[in-house]
Amino acid sequence: MADSDKNQKGFTQLPEMHSKSLRGPQSFNEHADFITSQPAESKGKNADKMPAENSDKAPLEYDPQYILQVRDLKKYFPIKDGMLSRTVGYVKAVDGVTFNLKRGTTMGLVGESGCGKTTTGRAILRLSGDKTGGDVLFNGKEVYDLTKKELHDARTNMQIIFQDPFSSLSPRMPVGEIIGEAVREHKLVPKAEFDDYIDNIMDKCGLQPFHKDRYPHEFSGGQRQRICIARALALNPEFVVCDEPVSALDVSIQAQIINLLKDLQEQFNLTYLFISHDLSVVEHISDTVGVMYLGNLVEYGETDDIFRNPLHPYTKALFSAIPIPDPTVKMKRIVLEGSIPSPANPPEGCKFHTRCAQCMEKCKHEVPVQREIEPGHYVVCHLYDDAAKASAE
Ligand SMILES: Nc1ncnc2c1ncn2[C@@H]1O[C@H](COP(=O)(O)OP(=O)(O)OP(=O)(O)O)[C@@H](O)[C@H]1O
Ligand code: SF4
Ligand SMILES: [Mg+2]
Repeated sequence: MADSDKNQKGFTQLPEMHSKSLRGPQSFNEHADFITSQPAESKGKNADKMPAENSDKAPLEYDPQYILQVRDLKKYFPIKDGMLSRTVGYVKAVDGVTFNLKRGTTMGLVGESGCGKTTTGRAILRLSGDKTGGDVLFNGKEVYDLTKKELHDARTNMQIIFQDPFSSLSPRMPVGEIIGEAVREHKLVPKAEFDDYIDNIMDKCGLQPFHKDRYPHEFSGGQRQRICIARALALNPEFVVCDEPVSALDVSIQAQIINLLKDLQEQFNLTYLFISHDLSVVEHISDTVGVMYLGNLVEYGETDDIFRNPLHPYTKALFSAIPIPDPTVKMKRIVLEGSIPSPANPPEGCKFHTRCAQCMEKCKHEVPVQREIEPGHYVVCHLYDDAAKASAE
């Protein structure tokens, strides 16, 4: 294939591709990487009712340096009960998440099991029905305002890679079909170029052309994840949610897949939201990191700042468990008391107060606000109220 036939991402030239991407208005504002807006309900108690959609807020302005702008995103799942299946409450899986993601970078999302990482990723991609509240601007367009047709087209541009590469691959389809199915459906390449296009993508993902006719069960876990990555990349996306993409793999294979993701990011200027339990992997791959607890981001910043200088008591506890590869250094592990509360009935005030060793009286009643403690480093904790006040004076 001649180089002139390739677009800037190295794939076959797809004339319609960029008309399919969600290009927004060209306004620019001076927002920091992380917008410090506070959830509307955060005025004392964690309200127990469905919130009104940001009606009192100014529309989120598009900033072209960000592929993704998320403001106060909420996703509640109704809890049904009784014969009439009445809604008796809500699982507040995502309860006011705000961040911006720069093009071509990776944001790591960490936190204990059940804190809402997957739901955040799925809600951004509009894969879980309606959102409960907030804004999700992708290339300046509100994802939840797209028509069915626009959303269908936008799917090529926003992809997801799942944790379990086996269950996400159809066992009855040969690999070439799995990778090419959506390419065909979206008519991304002319018929005559289809085979070359798929071969090219498979090659970029470390797969051989003869793998096309084989079935998923004939591959190892690492190869299956390569197939999933190839399937996502075949659609020429700009943004990929990677939901625990290596946790089901052997440690030796994890590094290969992480390196593959990094190489592909460099080649195609991809942007990743990288969800993982593994803090070492997140540190290795991410430019920025968000720490989630019970549906909220409690800390966010550049990877170096978060790992070298964690501020939130929850982040400190989480990071204290990272092994230090130096036998002379004694680890000071902070063990969290109690278990993670139910997102259907989160504690009032600071949601972390039931487990926090530094809990103060006001933590039990007042919801802390997000504060920028050093440039680009945000934390949601009352311990920093005075520091923020002092720097404002
Ligand atoms: N479809 C759903 N219906 C009801 N509750 C849900 C649904 N999906 C997720 N939840 C709940 O929302 C909360 C957040 O779940 P989520 O899967 O986002 O967590 P997670 O951080 O990805 O966890 P893990 O690290 O285990 O993957 C959990 O309490 C979960 O039980
Ligand atoms: S606000 Fe209070 S309870 Fe919450 S993390 Fe900070 S110190 Fe702990
Ligand atoms: Mg998950």
